[in-house]
Amino acid sequence: MAHLINRNVLLGVSGGIAAYKSAELIRQLQELGAEVRVIMTRGAQQFITPLTLQALSGNPVHTELLDSEAELGMGHIELARWADLLLIAPATADLIARLAIGRADDLLTTVALATAAPRLIAPAMNQQMWHDKACAANVERLESLGMSLVGPAVGEQACGDVGPGRMEQPAVIAASAAALFQSGLLQGKRVLISAGPTQEALDPVRYISNHSSGKMGYALARACADAGARTTLVSGPVNLEAPAKVKRVEVQSALQMLDQCVELSAESDIFIACAAVADYRPAEVQTQKIKKGAEFTSLELVRNPDIVATVSSTNPRPFTVGFAAETNDVVQYARGKMQRKGLDMIVANDVSKQDIGFNSDENAVTVVWPDGEHSLAQSSKLNIARQVVELIAGQIKPES
Ligand code: C5P
Repeated sequence: MAHLINRNVLLGVSGGIAAYKSAELIRQLQELGAEVRVIMTRGAQQFITPLTLQALSGNPVHTELLDSEAELGMGHIELARWADLLLIAPATADLIARLAIGRADDLLTTVALATAAPRLIAPAMNQQMWHDKACAANVERLESLGMSLVGPAVGEQACGDVGPGRMEQPAVIAASAAALFQSGLLQGKRVLISAGPTQEALDPVRYISNHSSGKMGYALARACADAGARTTLVSGPVNLEAPAKVKRVEVQSALQMLDQCVELSAESDIFIACAAVADYRPAEVQTQKIKKGAEFTSLELVRNPDIVATVSSTNPRPFTVGFAAETNDVVQYARGKMQRKGLDMIVANDVSKQDIGFNSDENAVTVVWPDGEHSLAQSSKLNIARQVVELIAGQIKPES
């Protein structure tokens, strides 16, 4: 599993009640092998003392930007250079806003601008604040600036509210930090991923589709690219930006997706079929808009080809991974699907759970392969994707 041996983690703590969890987070990071230094904002020092975090980290805690003594020792630029990872946990709504606009008004935000290291952010705030549009826009901006997020978790909050906003558990944050350094796991591999829904045209203005957001496929694309793979996404219509370093091929219908996947899979080592392909398409596509008339009408549909089964039956074939959305006996049905479709691995999710999966930002899955399986607890789709990438890397034979 992932570790942080020989990694310098600069932990930024801002002023939220979750700051008390930073103590445990330092321990978890150290257990994974990291050397930890801490920056605290003024607000953070109201919740937990620098002395506590100094004792736990074994290093002086940094609090001031304009501190001549600190600048003589390890100043803000040295700190920024020292870090292999800047981890901000908890990140308050205010800190996220300041990061989103590139402020440098204290030591933590200045170092966040000055470092070339990856930046991992663990938000923590009241659920209403998390849902606020201004905050959501700031979070989106952080991601578009290349920062990664872990959490927030869903549950009871210190203020008594229930919802998303709790800082993720220290062990999960530490594991996400370690997973960021999994680069190289798929070095040199070519990965093809199908994602999103398909749209099956009825006429020039109407189509049949589904509610797939594409988020899981896009998270996988990002995780594969981060792991060093040359990654191509064949994507149905979605509202998402292509992740950095990922080539995107846009399609609409299942037949278009099939054509692209068959062609591109010939040059791929791994194919991950994450798309929610429409099972049927209209037997005929009308060239003119269908007029309303009769009280009742019917639509003739024909089965779409199974893209992942088609790819898995090619020779040579890539290591092929499918998804299975089930509501009961999830693993058993997924295993059957894996065999029927000739897959090497299948990612099963329980879609009877309302708060995860389809259209949500979180997922919880069981990854199944012929002689094993592994459950991944509920987490962000990016975290799930990173763990799936680890499991795929573990199953690929060296010669494939
Ligand atoms: O059969 P079912 O739709 O449950 O299978 C889901 C898996 O098969 C997913 O990996 C999905 O991307 C893939 N699939 C496909 N082509 C289809 C239907 C499903 O590649 N026509």
